[in-house]
This record gives sequence, C-alpha cells and structure tokens, in this order.
Amino acid sequence: MRPQEIIAIKRDGGELSETQIQAFIAGICDGSWADYQISALVMAMFTRGLNERETEMLVREMLNSGELLDFSDISSPKADKHSTGGVGDKTSLIIAPLVAACGVAVPMISGRGLGHTGGTLDKLQSIPGYNVSLSKAEFRTVIEKCGFAMAGQTAEIAPADKKLYALRDATATVPYIPLIVASIMSKKLAEGLDALVLDVKTGNGAFMQTLDDSKKLAEAMVRTGEKFGVRTEAIVSDMSEPLGQYVGNALEVYECIKILRDESEPQMAQTTELSIELAARMLKLTGVCGSLEEAKATALEKLSNGEVLDKFKQNCTDQGGDVSVFDEPEKLLNGKIEQFEIKSDRVGFVGSVDALTIGEAIVEIGGGRALADDKIDNAVGFRCNLKTGDRVQNGESLGTAYCRDRAQFELVSEKLLNAYTISADPVSVPVLVKAVIQ
Ligand code: URA
Repeated sequence: MRPQEIIAIKRDGGELSETQIQAFIAGICDGSWADYQISALVMAMFTRGLNERETEMLVREMLNSGELLDFSDISSPKADKHSTGGVGDKTSLIIAPLVAACGVAVPMISGRGLGHTGGTLDKLQSIPGYNVSLSKAEFRTVIEKCGFAMAGQTAEIAPADKKLYALRDATATVPYIPLIVASIMSKKLAEGLDALVLDVKTGNGAFMQTLDDSKKLAEAMVRTGEKFGVRTEAIVSDMSEPLGQYVGNALEVYECIKILRDESEPQMAQTTELSIELAARMLKLTGVCGSLEEAKATALEKLSNGEVLDKFKQNCTDQGGDVSVFDEPEKLLNGKIEQFEIKSDRVGFVGSVDALTIGEAIVEIGGGRALADDKIDNAVGFRCNLKTGDRVQNGESLGTAYCRDRAQFELVSEKLLNAYTISADPVSVPVLVKAVIQ
C-alpha cells in the first residue's frame, strides 16, 4: 500500500490495520516515507485519533524498530523510572543509586534537557569526566560492577521514535496522549525491565498542565506497560513550582550530593520525598520489599547510612567521573559565577513560584536549550530560598540567581521576581504526589 493510501484512511477517520502501521514504521526506518508523508499521517492521527488497539500496535512496531536490551543473565530484578520532565527535577540521581543499593539493577537510559525542562544527561555531565556515551557493552559492564548505569539513548533503541519525535516537534503534534505513550513506552520497554515506575508531572512547568490530562497519560502508560509484561505504576506529581531547592545542571547535582551526604537543607525536602516515593515503588514492584511502607523505610535507611552515597561514588568511578565532588560538593559550584539576590518588595507569604518562568529564565542565560543542538552552560542556575507557603519579609531574598555577570542577571531579574507571587494571607504548601495509578 502506498503512503498516501494509508494517510487517506486516517484522514477520513478510519482505523489503521496492523499491516498499515507496520508499513508506516518500516517506511520511517528505511527512508521510503518522505518527511511530509510522515508528518501528514501524524497530523491525521492527532486530529482523528488513535484507539487503544492502534496505540498498542504503534508501540509494538516502534519498539521492534530497534534493538531490545537483554539483561536476563543478570540475576537481580531490573527496574527503571521515567519522568515526563520538569524544572529542578533531579530525582534520577538519587533513585538510581538508591534502588541499586537495595539490590535492583537499574539500566537507566536518560535524555537531554529541551526548552524549560532539564535532562539527566546534562546534569551528569557537570561532574568532570562523567561519561554518558556508553557503548552497549560498557553499559552492561557498569551495571554488573555497581548495579546501575546512566547513559544516553543509542541509535539502535527505538530509532523510529527519533525521527517521529523531531517531526512532531516541528509540526505541533507532540501533545497527543497516544503519540506520547508510543514515544515514551517504545524506549522504556526496550530496556529489558521487570518493573517501571513513571512520574508524570502536572502543573505549568510540565508539558501536561492539567491534573486530568496528566492522569489520563499516566493511566495509558501503565496499561501499555502491563500489556507488554512489565509491572508498571505511575504517580502524578506537582510541577507548579520547581522541585526542591536548585535549578540548573551543576546546582542540581550539588543538591543531590548534599542529600546523599545527609547535609540537606529544608528547601531540598521535596527532592528527598519524591525520590523515596518513586524508589519505594520500584522496590515494591520488583518484590524486593513486600509493601510500600517497608520499601520506604528501607530506602530511608540506605539514604541516611551512607550506602547510597557510596553506590553513586562507585558508579562515578566506573563511568569515568571525578569522584572528589562527592567529598567536596562545593567544587561543583566553582568557576566564574556570581550570585545575585531576588528580593521581595513586600511582606506576606509566598503564594506560588512559577516553574515555567524560572525554567525559561535559565534557558535565557544559557542553562538550558532552546533548540536540540544548542550548547549549554552547566554552571548557571537558580536557588529557591523561599518556596510556596513560606513567610516572607520585605527585602528578604526569595531566590538567588547564579549568573556569569551582572548583565546576564539583568536580562532575567524581572522575570525571576515575577515568578513569585506574594499573598497577604497564609498559603498552603502544594501536595507533591497528586495521584497514584496502579
Ligand atoms: N517525551 C518523549 O520522549 N516523547 C514524547 O512524545 C513526549 C515526551
């Protein structure tokens, strides 16, 4: 069947058959479908819809378009978590060593930041020497040695998604749940996992902004994971304000190391809470712990007795990184960076800290990417000194901008101040975990 005949079926609201979806994905991979034909079919899917059967076939074909990792010879259970992305979302750096310290292998394939949302690979690369470009053999060796590895996606995993995602990005067809499910799950299901925990963000710093849409996405991904034989759970978590204290690549690694060293500050509490929540679900799903309560207690103990710090140090050595940052985290803040305060001009309570605005300000000063191949500056960022619900005095610092110079600060100072709303009345702290989908 020619591409235009398949496009016409979906354009007219029809249901695609298995053979037609196979032809579409094969055509993306072998280059026989032109970009305009792929884009036309994706737009037809976006406007006419994909049912559950079509979505499942799309996941299967995208997954099988590439290589499937096989860790069946590693005897421990295998688990990973995936976050749909946000501002200051750094939990992977705590979860991977934490879950590995509990005896679960974590083959964590991560991404780079794009737009206002950060990416684990960029954060890791602020550790001097840390290698995120591992070959398949190196990835396996690191997992065998220390229980977890963190690296970028190779060209062999779900190659159809790479092309499709770039075209969706350029044709305004990203925000459609079946296409998001196919994109995320085709990559995660290739990791050879027993269990997967998804963290779907909600709020203005997330790409699913309403709780209702975030729940629908979480439900669709959980159903898909289970259909493919991977025990899957999801939580929907708050992304209306940045997670934890710091935003910016090196600063976020700094926050994680401070937590692992048991030198946490109060504004870092959300980072710990969410990491424990997600890690505990991975421990429960893999059967390493019998209940969520037991898993949370185990995770907390490993975190506070230094085992997780040791695990990350071991992994850092195995991936070529400078392990001294774990003993002297302040080293991560070195470089020609100046700090500038954002001060409140009134007394009251912090009503909100707009995650999207802060994420966009960081992109503007070079800490994130506007385009996929932009270079980034790992050292710049922002520290939230006060968070939603905190009492504030007139002239008190709401946050600290880490900039290269004053000119850079002046570019974003107004934006950063406007990210905060101040209320005369007390404000309640946002609930972090808004829904659980099992
Ligand atoms: N992240 C992905 O990997 N794919 C999507 O479609 C959306 C977010």
